[in-house]
Amino acid sequence: MVDELSERNIIITAALPYAYDDLHLGHIASTHLPPDILYRYLKLNGASAIQVCASDDFGTPILIAAEKKGRRPSECVSEWNSRFKADLERLGIVYDTFDRTSSAENIEMAQRFFTRLYEGGYIFTSDVSQFFCENDRKFLPDRYVKGRCPHCGAEDQYSDACENCGRTLQPGEVLDPKCAICGRPPVMRSSEHYFFKLSAFAERLNDWLKGNSDLQPDAKNYVLNWIKDGLQDWDVTRDISWGVPVPLKEAEGKVLYGWFDNHLCYITAALKAAGRSGDEGRRYWNESRVYHFIGKDIVYHHYLFLPSMRLGEGEYKLPDLIPARGHLLLLGKKISRSKRWMITVRDFLDSFPPDYLRFYLTRIVPYDQSDANFDLQEFADKINNELVANIGNFVYRTLVFVKRENGGVVPSPDVPGEDEKHVMDELEGATLETGKLIEQGHYDRALRRVLDFATECNRYFQRKAPWENVKERPTTLYYSCNLVAGLATLLGPFLPFSSEEIREQLGLDAPTREEKWASASELQVEPGRTIGEPSPIFRKVEATDLGKVRVLLG
Ligand code: MF3
Ligand code: ZN
Repeated sequence: MVDELSERNIIITAALPYAYDDLHLGHIASTHLPPDILYRYLKLNGASAIQVCASDDFGTPILIAAEKKGRRPSECVSEWNSRFKADLERLGIVYDTFDRTSSAENIEMAQRFFTRLYEGGYIFTSDVSQFFCENDRKFLPDRYVKGRCPHCGAEDQYSDACENCGRTLQPGEVLDPKCAICGRPPVMRSSEHYFFKLSAFAERLNDWLKGNSDLQPDAKNYVLNWIKDGLQDWDVTRDISWGVPVPLKEAEGKVLYGWFDNHLCYITAALKAAGRSGDEGRRYWNESRVYHFIGKDIVYHHYLFLPSMRLGEGEYKLPDLIPARGHLLLLGKKISRSKRWMITVRDFLDSFPPDYLRFYLTRIVPYDQSDANFDLQEFADKINNELVANIGNFVYRTLVFVKRENGGVVPSPDVPGEDEKHVMDELEGATLETGKLIEQGHYDRALRRVLDFATECNRYFQRKAPWENVKERPTTLYYSCNLVAGLATLLGPFLPFSSEEIREQLGLDAPTREEKWASASELQVEPGRTIGEPSPIFRKVEATDLGKVRVLLG
């Protein structure tokens, strides 16, 4: 493993889900599953790594959702926060800290950033003309106004973006505007807003991007182009009641924009997980490697806003890597909340084991920004052909043979022959190459590598034919058991539940035994060990199972 990875603390973050709707498969594919694979791999390598996330609590849509239900936003977001944690845990994704952007610590962090940026001369005020509802006596930012899209004519669109044609809209552009609360037409009124001088950071951002060869080249190139086109200063306050209060006497009633405070919760949550604060916390952050995992729709925020705010504030280092992945399409179509073209994590896990989802998503999501497509038939095929028929088959065959022919006891081998040497070499190669691919962010190819190795295992078993070659049977079964153990270790970062189950069936569940990535290619199972009860680890996905998921899509 790359030495640097084992020597320094590693902080891994996943983009924060908005606290107003369930997690769906798209969140998992780009944002939560990839970091979990890395995190589990690092842990198996004995690295000191933490993985953190939070609910993204502030902002207009969340406030509107709460108001519609006649409830306080603080109550709603805390329910969502628990739901997120429960869903992710079911998927085997456990964060060292799963914070909330509305936590006291994060509010303090955001206000500290604002104050330091303000004192540093990076914040200025300017009047903004904005929709105002005279009936509700409220400014109506983005989502509070609905109307007709000036581009495609679609009705009932929010004033900041059209869901139908996908274009973003400038304030005041939407046609026939209506207040989203009472439905009356709003008027335009001017209000003083605070702006962050993003434009002042063009050169420093440029240097950072060019000087960091680890950053993903595709993201980097278009960010460099945005900078070349000129950066717009950024309106960071809102006239609503739900957000981090702007820490200035003259700014009463104003709150910070959600994109000002949300990414600061990466820092807040990491420091909580590490149990550090103040100067000690800052030192911890600055001495760590920092990875922010995101979906491609928020590249702009993570490559421009986030680093500029850290540069301007001056106390917390920039990320080392911001792995961005593409969207997940659902049966070829874009996931849409408003059209309910989505499958929630909850619903999916009511029909299938978590490792099936982890397996399929890992297989189809590459380390770049191209979109992946979630297809039900392909899902079934991959589970049936690759998990059940390849990995599951080898594991089950081996264990059943040991149980039936040797009373469940791992036999003593003879000296290894050519076949054994070959397949153990294969295991060593698979361990090294899979590890390298994980370190490079290619989890799809890493998993593919493990599958190729499983194919080798099946070949070995087939060639040795222990059902007829009785003389070599003890050797074959001994090595097969060890290959099964190796597979379990290699699968650990991808399929944690199945990996554990395989180890249990091998009788390797002794709590004293610390599993390590490098031990994958060692002989982990000694002769004479009694294995557990063999049962198939994976089950075929049938058409009727798919039917249950199809129903969810209406
Ligand atoms: N909630 C945002 C979204 O879903 C992502 C926030 S990630 C953070 O688009 F870094 F900004 F917190
Ligand atoms: Zn109104």
